[in-house]
Amino acid sequence: MDKPEVVLGVSGGIAAYKACELLRRLTESGHDVRVVPTASALHFIGEATWSALSGHPATTEVWESVHEVPHVRIGQSADLVVIAPATADLLAKAAHGLADDLLTNTLLTARCPVVFAPAMHTEMWEHPATQENVATLRRRGAVVIEPAVGRLTGVDTGKGRLPDPGEIFEVCRRVLARGTAALTADLAGRHVVVSAGGTREPLDPVRFLGNRSTGRQGYALARAAVARGARVTLVSANSELPDPAGADVVRAGTTAQLREAVLKAAADADAVVMAAAVADFRPARYAEGKIKKREGQEPEPLDLVRNPDILAEISAERARSGQIVVGFAAETDDVLANGRAKLARKGCDLLVVNEVGEHKTFGAETNEAVVLGADGTETPVPYGPKGALADTVWDLVVRRLG
Ligand code: CTP
Repeated sequence: MDKPEVVLGVSGGIAAYKACELLRRLTESGHDVRVVPTASALHFIGEATWSALSGHPATTEVWESVHEVPHVRIGQSADLVVIAPATADLLAKAAHGLADDLLTNTLLTARCPVVFAPAMHTEMWEHPATQENVATLRRRGAVVIEPAVGRLTGVDTGKGRLPDPGEIFEVCRRVLARGTAALTADLAGRHVVVSAGGTREPLDPVRFLGNRSTGRQGYALARAAVARGARVTLVSANSELPDPAGADVVRAGTTAQLREAVLKAAADADAVVMAAAVADFRPARYAEGKIKKREGQEPEPLDLVRNPDILAEISAERARSGQIVVGFAAETDDVLANGRAKLARKGCDLLVVNEVGEHKTFGAETNEAVVLGADGTETPVPYGPKGALADTVWDLVVRRLG
């Protein structure tokens, strides 16, 4: 299969250096990327960096390298154009159809999806001129990612930071994989709860029983739900990942804390997805002081007690009629038979069964699964990014929400 062709437009802002990371992610995941910087972008990152990282010349003007880079063809043949960072000036030019350099010409010739990742000072972002330009671009079908909130170029902080390159990459991946379906807010007006990470059960002030879950799959679910318009509560157990933009993140440490947070958020939720790896057992006793080794003595045996099964509990006592509950399971043998039995035992609507295989490791960016439905359906999800599995889960949830 041909590599998808991506045009990475870079306009002149200090965040241009972050576009190098986006470029690296795009090329490493099998995209053919052509970088089109504006002349002012080259003040921040030079042509040599862009061409070395992309493997193509990076030209700014329509009359440079005309024999190699016909300006009309770059836009025409692209599968995706992403502009990161998009300055206020670039957004204004795009909204008004100006074409005074290669990037703005490319925008006029492109017929593929276009993603803008704006970065600018808060005042510039909030100015009615910028807001109207953004509204115009969105009305025409472009994706304009909301800027992040945080430290800006100088000492000031506020809305206007370029979103994390990983977040921009994820938006690009969704738009390439799903086309305009990636833009439909089919979870708008819905509240969804996602649990992620792994719970930890303390033995004493310094030790715990835990697991290797990093939270990647749950975070991908939260991010995809935000992109589809949902209000998202992410109950995160011991994950070190950055908060997904737009989700309300609630932290939990133990299974008891996770249960409390999930039950509270589920009270008005349309869907609950239990992606967290929940400890099935906890130590029967918590030692207030650190457990010490004693010379010549065998260690005390560790007594464990069962934790409540949160998934079974929320499935049995639906907080809202029509609430959809989704669970996860890892199986090595008899995947489908074991998965079916677990689905029935837990009483949920959908069970994502991870086939534990050679690619599967905790913390990986990828996953492979079958989603079993209580109605007898089976949806295989081929080996691929966790974001793609997340979208398949939400597709199935949306269908059941009616
Ligand atoms: N789960 C839960 N509460 C628990 C244990 C698990 O809500 N105390 C949820 C998990 O979030 C996940 C699913 O139940 O959605 C996993 O179920 P589990 O029975 O733990 O299955 P496996 O992880 O596949 O492990 P095993 O069958 O080996 O016990």
